[in-house]
Amino acid sequence: MQKTLDYIHQNKDRFVEELFDLLRIASISADPAYKNDVLKCADKVAEYLQKAGVDNVEVCQTKGNPIVYGDKFINPNLPTVLVYGHYDVQPPDPIELWNKPPFEPYIEKTDIHPDGAIFARGAADDKGQFFMHLKAFEAMINTDALPCNVKFIIEGEEEVGSVSLSDFVNENKEKLSCDCILISDTSLYSMEQPTVTTGLRGLSYVEVEVEGPNRDLHSGLYGGAVPNPIHTLSRMIAQLIDENGHITIDGFYDNVQVVSLEERAEMNKLKDNVEEYKNAIGLRGVEGEKDYTTLERTSIRPTLDCNGIWGGYTGEGAKTVIPSKAYAKISMRLVPYQTPEEIIEKFTQYFHKIAPDNVKVTVNPHHGGLPYVLPIDTKEFQSAKKAMETAFGREVLPFRSGGSIPITTMFEQVLGSKCVLMGFGLASDAIHSPNEHYGLSNFFKGIESIPLFFQNYAKQ
Ligand code: BES
Ligand code: MN
Ligand code: MN
Repeated sequence: MQKTLDYIHQNKDRFVEELFDLLRIASISADPAYKNDVLKCADKVAEYLQKAGVDNVEVCQTKGNPIVYGDKFINPNLPTVLVYGHYDVQPPDPIELWNKPPFEPYIEKTDIHPDGAIFARGAADDKGQFFMHLKAFEAMINTDALPCNVKFIIEGEEEVGSVSLSDFVNENKEKLSCDCILISDTSLYSMEQPTVTTGLRGLSYVEVEVEGPNRDLHSGLYGGAVPNPIHTLSRMIAQLIDENGHITIDGFYDNVQVVSLEERAEMNKLKDNVEEYKNAIGLRGVEGEKDYTTLERTSIRPTLDCNGIWGGYTGEGAKTVIPSKAYAKISMRLVPYQTPEEIIEKFTQYFHKIAPDNVKVTVNPHHGGLPYVLPIDTKEFQSAKKAMETAFGREVLPFRSGGSIPITTMFEQVLGSKCVLMGFGLASDAIHSPNEHYGLSNFFKGIESIPLFFQNYAKQ
């Protein structure tokens, strides 16, 4: 192991330079205008897999963006680890809030990252994180220290719902068969309190439309006598959460897993530092579901958020108008054992129920995903915990995250293997936001932890 760690240390600068090459490609999956960059990025990932010593590297075409596959088979008696990641990134908007262009990576020190952080779209989510696996693999291969078989699957549609990968997994069960799935696409609780992510929330996403009059109206001639769809929609959205922070949708909590007080006490060992939390995001006060801590509200409880609302005139100056329509996008984060289908159904019924008779309401569902939980008495969790404890020299705790990676549950259902979420980001990395960054020490701690995980996992 020392040889592998030495190799990593000796090649640090090159690892960062190579990552920069990936970060320079604007592989934005949400915007079809970037299709060429997406294709270019898939090829680049394949090239790096090959250079790292991975066999059978393939850029698999799909109806959507390509999936990059590769493997290294050393011995059928050894376990096989499937490494998953995504090379697609979120759009960089609002672009004017970036200090430097989002696809021109650079390193800068911050309070949280005194050793420097890499700034670029995708630095933490997920290029910087899946790239750690390529470099850890390269280090193991070059020091004769690969203790098991490895498969890589790096997709290009995670940020838009992993549609092609779902089909691919169903059609390639044999090719992807493995003993466990290793993923670095989540965050640590903090650098001082490293964690293995043991849970992800599911997701239901809807777009709603409220139509009042059949055309825009003069607000002087009609105002006060007709329903204004913006007002109606606002009232409806405001009604979705009550004064105790409960979601009012009928039956919304029916299938929510009740976490025991004992397990909650265990979870709350992670210090819920609300003061620090507020300061970090410039907030005067937190709010949420009554009788739950901030940590619990963002992990074991389901939530509902309006992500965008629009309608009417929003340009320069004043235009006196009552719009015909108003719109909103709403996301709901789910916990075991809620399902996206069930929640979409319940939302749709309720949204129609609370709509006044004088407007027309439409609910359009988007992609969703199931929640995921990894039990802590598994060899997957224990191997990751031990690996990170060695790398960080500190106790590592389990931690359920509020984010979603819908393919995890599908992997488990189709391949019959557990996912272990060994991510090294931080909540402050600004993923999906301007000035996304990834700490250099997070990047290197990750590269060091991965061979330790492989070793622990192969030994057990
Ligand atoms: N890597 C994130 C999810 C994440 C980040 C989980 C940090 C835990 C900690 C992933 O790329 C993501 O953004 N997922 C989306 C869902 C997807 C269907 C668009 C999300 O959580 O909003
Ligand atoms: Mn991600
Ligand atoms: Mn993301």
